[in-house]
Amino acid sequence: MVDAEIRELMQSFVLSDYQVQELYKRFNDEISKGLNRTTNALANTKCFPTYVQDLPTGDEIGKYLALDLGGTNFRVLLVTLKGHHEDTVESQIYAVPKELMIGPGVDLFDHIAECLAKFVEKHDMGSAYLPLGFTFSFPCVQMGLKEAILARWTKGFKCPGVVQEDVGRLLREAIHRRGDVDIAVVAILNDTTGTLMSCAHRNPKCRIGVIVGTGCNACYVERVDRVDLLKPEFKRDKKHVLVNTEWGAFGESGQLEFVRTEYDREVDRTSLNVSSQLFEKMVSGMYLGPIVGLVLLRALENNVIFKRDSKRMEFAAALRANPNSFHTKYISEIESDLFPEFTITRGILQDLFGTEKASIEDCLKLKYICECVAQRAATLIGIGISVLLNRIEEKDTVVGIDGSVYRFHPKFDAYMRKTIDKLAKDKIYDIMLSEDGSGRGAALVAAVASKQK
Ligand code: GLC
Repeated sequence: MVDAEIRELMQSFVLSDYQVQELYKRFNDEISKGLNRTTNALANTKCFPTYVQDLPTGDEIGKYLALDLGGTNFRVLLVTLKGHHEDTVESQIYAVPKELMIGPGVDLFDHIAECLAKFVEKHDMGSAYLPLGFTFSFPCVQMGLKEAILARWTKGFKCPGVVQEDVGRLLREAIHRRGDVDIAVVAILNDTTGTLMSCAHRNPKCRIGVIVGTGCNACYVERVDRVDLLKPEFKRDKKHVLVNTEWGAFGESGQLEFVRTEYDREVDRTSLNVSSQLFEKMVSGMYLGPIVGLVLLRALENNVIFKRDSKRMEFAAALRANPNSFHTKYISEIESDLFPEFTITRGILQDLFGTEKASIEDCLKLKYICECVAQRAATLIGIGISVLLNRIEEKDTVVGIDGSVYRFHPKFDAYMRKTIDKLAKDKIYDIMLSEDGSGRGAALVAAVASKQK
């Protein structure tokens, strides 16, 4: 157990039952607002209809190229769908240098095309004509399966010249500029759509796709008659359409102010996109580490941690200079660490501050800070998932999920389920880890799209 001082410091991260209920109501209202044509302009969660209206049947076959841009890495993949047999995926990770993430859009797309050409060459596919699915994990208005207008950049990207442009066109132009590969971009999709599709391929009960990685978002299967945003060219004879909620933007009209802490405000203030993506900034990998870093800094300044350490103020100065030095992966590592050795926690503290002998008491305090921040994030995501589960008619649903925070945090799943069990009482649900949603999902969307024609 940790002492009262540290518990008091973390109090603002502990959500009360009342707050959870109120957040549920606000979240649900916002999704309704997003789906409705007359209120969509005012909604934070834009609920973009995708052009994906069919879930995979399991008999999809063929070879597809896939690109995955939007997390920490950029990847090129070659996916072979084999119907009811296990698919194969070959992939290559390419770094996206920081300058490209905030430099001119043309440079970013040239880099993507260059990596694609290298991949094609390496796999000796020069002459083969392959359809390509592009997992572009940012908010886009889909004008068709191959046409996606970027609404805004999120996470670590901010390249001028791309917002309000069709990213499919930008990619095709970059490919043409090189002139050495013959590739058709047949689908552009969000990573949440890819996750839903790849999970639905394995389990037909999957109706929701969630990402808790660098960013956070969800998509779900909605009834066509409830999405009055749909353009006339949509196939209304189909009953359903996948909706990309872009729930990371929730809170931009003040709905989260009653739970946001001073640390959340500070993380926002120093971000690339101030006042945007406020929900995302409380729950996703790009921000959780820095939040813990700021809390730890306050704990050091208030003398509630490392009390007996003569270097306490030096630690504080180091964190103040760079709160981002507290990486999100540390949270998962610290929460997985073993009492009373705390070998991993001590290693992290050594890396951060050069301190060799952190006491058990201090390790427990740091663990408690991490726990509160992660538990709040998982609770918030549990609220969002419950809202979507309760919107879906089926009683029995599977949620497909992916992302580094969910994957590596030892208790995230349990924290989320605790909230869902309370808020979606009448539902039977399961949560399924996605196997490479961005790659297999892109291939499946491309495959399903070609069947639609
Ligand atoms: C951000 C993006 C969203 C994406 C999510 C997870 O929220 O806006 O499109 O799905 O990150 O990568």
